[in-house]
Amino acid sequence: MLEAKNIYNITVVGGGYVGFSLSCMLSVNHNVILLDVDRARVEEINRHASPIEDEHITNWLENHVDLSLSATIRPAEAYNDPDIVFVAVPTDFSESRNAFDTSVVEGVIKSVIQYCPQRQPIIVIKSTVPVGFTERMRSETGYRRLLFCPEFLREGKALYDCLHPNRIIAGTDMDDPALMQDASLVCDLMLEGCSGYECPSLIVNSSEAEAIKLFSNAYLALRVSFFNELDCFAELSGLNAGEIIRGMGLDPRIGQDYNNPSFGYGGNCLPKDTRQLLAQFSGIPQNIISAIVESNQTRMDHISAQILSRAKKISHDSSSSQSPVIGVYRLNMKAGSDNYRHSATLEVLKRISGKGFPIEIYEPFVDLDNFDMFPECEIQNDLDRFKSDCQIILANRFESCLEDVKEKVYTRDQFHTN
Ligand SMILES: NC(=O)c1ccc[n+]([C@@H]2O[C@H](COP(=O)([O-])OP(=O)(O)OC[C@H]3O[C@@H](n4cnc5c(N)ncnc54)[C@H](O)[C@@H]3O)[C@@H](O)[C@H]2O)c1
Repeated sequence: MLEAKNIYNITVVGGGYVGFSLSCMLSVNHNVILLDVDRARVEEINRHASPIEDEHITNWLENHVDLSLSATIRPAEAYNDPDIVFVAVPTDFSESRNAFDTSVVEGVIKSVIQYCPQRQPIIVIKSTVPVGFTERMRSETGYRRLLFCPEFLREGKALYDCLHPNRIIAGTDMDDPALMQDASLVCDLMLEGCSGYECPSLIVNSSEAEAIKLFSNAYLALRVSFFNELDCFAELSGLNAGEIIRGMGLDPRIGQDYNNPSFGYGGNCLPKDTRQLLAQFSGIPQNIISAIVESNQTRMDHISAQILSRAKKISHDSSSSQSPVIGVYRLNMKAGSDNYRHSATLEVLKRISGKGFPIEIYEPFVDLDNFDMFPECEIQNDLDRFKSDCQIILANRFESCLEDVKEKVYTRDQFHTN
């Protein structure tokens, strides 16, 4: 176990969902400096404000005014004297390479090696990487103190999940006693951070830790796809999907969690992680992994077809010469999150725009200056106007503010949960 008197100098690279939550947690007991390329984000953090929308983080910051946390855009400052460096930068999916683009993570690892030749801090990769990446980096750079610790947080609950993890996994080289020691130190650090909250921790080889992360997300995507296909069957057969799912879930092996139909799986992780895993199956027999990816496309095609067919029906039944306005209530995947990157709603929007119906989007978190994805769509930040302008309102998640217009709403949300 970590000794109470040990205070580490910790550098966290990347101040997004993963890096900022981790920094909040670690800076209660240790000195944390956060390095990010985004100047506005750095200034926000130095003002003790959250750079991401997360209710738990906002409350946490109000109750923890004395965190030992600062942020910088200068690598020389961030890498001055770290004992441990956490890497939480993006690993977006590259269409051209059909794999994660790991160049930002690689760049960070090389910078740490260059800035800290004597200190040799432990580098902990939190970014999601391909299976085999950490081992490859150890052999390419010759730098041994590299671990992979997957992050399992959910959007909108980033800090909460950091403080209440369901497991801590450290991926290392299990044949190297010094690296095993690093791995247990990092596990202790994470356990100390979630003070008193009990969860299992597991040390495995780094490639296995990377596989745990990708297969976990593929399994979650499979579960979402399964309930979405069930919902599609129910919708087209005139059955109540909610009742079917509730009845199924009474079997404890199936359970009542993570079973709410949606427009598809989306967000920052499931789409790219399933595609990365599928790419790594190249030459290995499989049916399910490719079916997960295909099923999600089929789901979004189906949802889009349903919306367009409703719009056509309204248009046909109406005496007005004007086409009905399709409204999109929120672009995010989950209520309470400001993140709409790669959301299923965006994918549906791509499919229904340009089909002859005006589209209005209600999204309070949209950065109007930088939102150029759908120039033909109107962005409306006044909810009442949005509700009166639109004849159909799509909502991946139904929220109580839509109650007064529920006859206009198209959603497949059965349980009003995320
Ligand atoms: N968001 C999640 O729910 C989640 C969960 C588990 C794992 N992950 C993985 O964690 C990683 C980070 O995800 P995220 O959601 O926190 O991303 P994010 O986009 O919210 O944050 C990334 C941050 O890194 C910064 N950054 C980019 N390049 C940088 C550089 N060269 N140096 C310093 N900072 C840089 C960005 O400005 C941004 O603030 C990804 O690999 C993701 O797949 C994310």
